Amino acid sequence: MALATPRVFSGIQPSGELHIGNYLGAIQAWVEIQHRYESFFCVVDYHAITVPYAPPELRTRTHEAAVSLLAAGIDPSVATLFVQSAVPEHTELAWIFNTITPLGELERQTQFKDKAQRQESVAAGLLNYPVLQAADILLYRADSVPVGEDQVQHLELSREIARRWNARFRPDSPYFPEPKALLTPTRRIMGLDGSGKMSKSTGNSVGLLEPPDDIWAKLRPAVTDPKRVRRTDPGTPEVCNIYHLHKAFNSEATVELVAERCRTAGWGCIECKQTLFEGMERTLAPMRARAADIRSRPGHVEEVLGDGAATARRVARETMREVKAVMGLAAEAGLRPHRP
Ligand code: TRP
Repeated sequence: MALATPRVFSGIQPSGELHIGNYLGAIQAWVEIQHRYESFFCVVDYHAITVPYAPPELRTRTHEAAVSLLAAGIDPSVATLFVQSAVPEHTELAWIFNTITPLGELERQTQFKDKAQRQESVAAGLLNYPVLQAADILLYRADSVPVGEDQVQHLELSREIARRWNARFRPDSPYFPEPKALLTPTRRIMGLDGSGKMSKSTGNSVGLLEPPDDIWAKLRPAVTDPKRVRRTDPGTPEVCNIYHLHKAFNSEATVELVAERCRTAGWGCIECKQTLFEGMERTLAPMRARAADIRSRPGHVEEVLGDGAATARRVARETMREVKAVMGLAAEAGLRPHRP
């Protein structure tokens, strides 16, 4: 049976105050999508505990992530915003999916191999991370998942899990849709130091709610075209991370002007960065204002997340009832026989 309105699900790890890489890679798309799809957006704290962490910090980071999402424009009157651990069905379905997912496929996930390399001791939860992600999505039977490119492999696994579960337990009428990635058009945002992906932990990011002075202090020394050593050296915009940020924050006309001034050495990198800073401020200043408003209302975030969890849970319970019934598992209220 097809769902009436197309549904999207997406999740973000609570890395505290989110940064412009998170915004351009996912959140900006969520804000636009929420008006066209029935949307579930989730702060995935169960994913965050697959690597070592500090419990009091996790709570703050989860709260701050929610503030950032609301400040960025997620509107709880149209989208469902909630925290993963408030809806226990996520882990319940993940367990079930663990029983039909081949170990080899999990070991092949590049994100697992990357992260496992950086740990002294690797938790089984890190290996099973993408199974929980599949459960997140399929619990809501979402057809589309707005994510960045780095999640494509995880999404492919989610589709395989849906296929495998359907084939095994509902061969005649598939229950789970095979969710597809809605890829965000922005190319990967590099860190300000020009080395690798923008990430809060490496200090090369611009926070969505960061004070303007702090942003400028980071932007000013940020890496540009390495061949542009002196002010009079002409540059190559395409190899400059700052140029790519202009595309995300400034108009096409400004981007063209920037490229021309760079190629002809009409501007120095500082002037170019000032123009970028102005563009960023047009997006970020209103977010800071919204965040201040949200923070001035005690209990507001908790209320939004509580309502979100209640809405999510209604859908989640329905899915689990169906899943458990066809699998021969006990219903919530006990071991009642399944009458199809
Ligand atoms: N793994 C995703 C990331 O690191 C976060 C995530 C968890 C997610 N569950 C999800 C994304 C479900 C989309 C759908 O970005």
